[in-house]
Amino acid sequence: MTLTLLGLESSCDDTAAAVVSGRDVLSSVVLGQNALHAAYGGVVPEIAARAHAEKLDIAVTEALARAGLGLTDMDGIAVTAGPGLIGGVLAGVMMAKGIAAGSGLPLVGVNHLAGHALTPRLTDGLAYPYLMLLVSGGHCQFLIVRGPDAFTRLGGTIDDAPGEAFDKTARLLGLPQPGGPSVEAEADGGDPERFAFPRPLLDRPGCDLSFSGLKTAMMRARDTLVAAQGGLRAQDRRDLCAGFQRAVRDVLAEKTRRALALYAAESPAEPAFAVAGGVAANGPLRAALRAVCAAAGTRFTAPPLALCTDNAAMIAYAGQELMAAGHRADMRLSARPRWPL
Ligand code: KG4
Ligand code: ZN
Repeated sequence: MTLTLLGLESSCDDTAAAVVSGRDVLSSVVLGQNALHAAYGGVVPEIAARAHAEKLDIAVTEALARAGLGLTDMDGIAVTAGPGLIGGVLAGVMMAKGIAAGSGLPLVGVNHLAGHALTPRLTDGLAYPYLMLLVSGGHCQFLIVRGPDAFTRLGGTIDDAPGEAFDKTARLLGLPQPGGPSVEAEADGGDPERFAFPRPLLDRPGCDLSFSGLKTAMMRARDTLVAAQGGLRAQDRRDLCAGFQRAVRDVLAEKTRRALALYAAESPAEPAFAVAGGVAANGPLRAALRAVCAAAGTRFTAPPLALCTDNAAMIAYAGQELMAAGHRADMRLSARPRWPL
């Protein structure tokens, strides 16, 4: 039976609500908060929590209206119950409990990371188990996804996420934010061999990654150039970006090769790999991962960006699978700032 769920997401700086029925996204509303946090150089948790509390109602009303449905058409409510900024998660959980209590609809709490990890089922219908690489400004990990509540983490970053390193690089070189797209554009005309960037953790077995050393290398290379020439030339910027991007691509491709080998050892019936998260938008990285998958005989997928970045459709979808597997929450559902998969 196809379930139709209302999903709520408020764990970071996007207030989102969506209606999803089976694999059909009937509506997906994402109200960002960038303007509220811009002056502070990052997300301010108190401001985020207050904005979520104010906007959740609007997001829910809008999501139902765009789907052309009412609460009575829903089979349940799914809400992100963590991990994330606690004030925002709490606002979402309270809202979901209120709707559930008022309507009598069943409630299910969803792990935000599970929402990201199940997105390839929503968008591409992947069969379990599949291999997933989550790469964004906040996440970097390899998961074997076995079911809506069954994940095996093969490895991940031991320090920063790659998106953070792209953003820092852009800041160091005076390029606009978000850093990923501007570094990628700049790298296009650059020589990736001119500067020697490290390939962190490639000498160590396993699928763990590290990106903080790349940030340091970028800072050193820039400082050396500035000291020698009194500033950066346009070509220096291009070459620095090209070298940095090549290093990120190389480590992610090699670790993906290793993760695919571990996954293949389980002889999945329909081997598939999915990459998701903001950094997955990077052209050269995508091409490299696609090639690694082709060599391993594994299907390559990358969900559309709108469903890779934070949204509530992924929460509504994950909620459906959890409900179908018998999961239910009650009024004791609590918000969890930390919640490893
Ligand atoms: O998934 P996302 O939108 O948000 C979270 O981190 O939760 O990812 C944003 C990150 C930013 O760090 C941004 O610089 C990076 O994804 N990004 C890229 C590209 N587009 C966005 N990184 C590399 N290349 C890109 N084309
Ligand atoms: Zn996220």
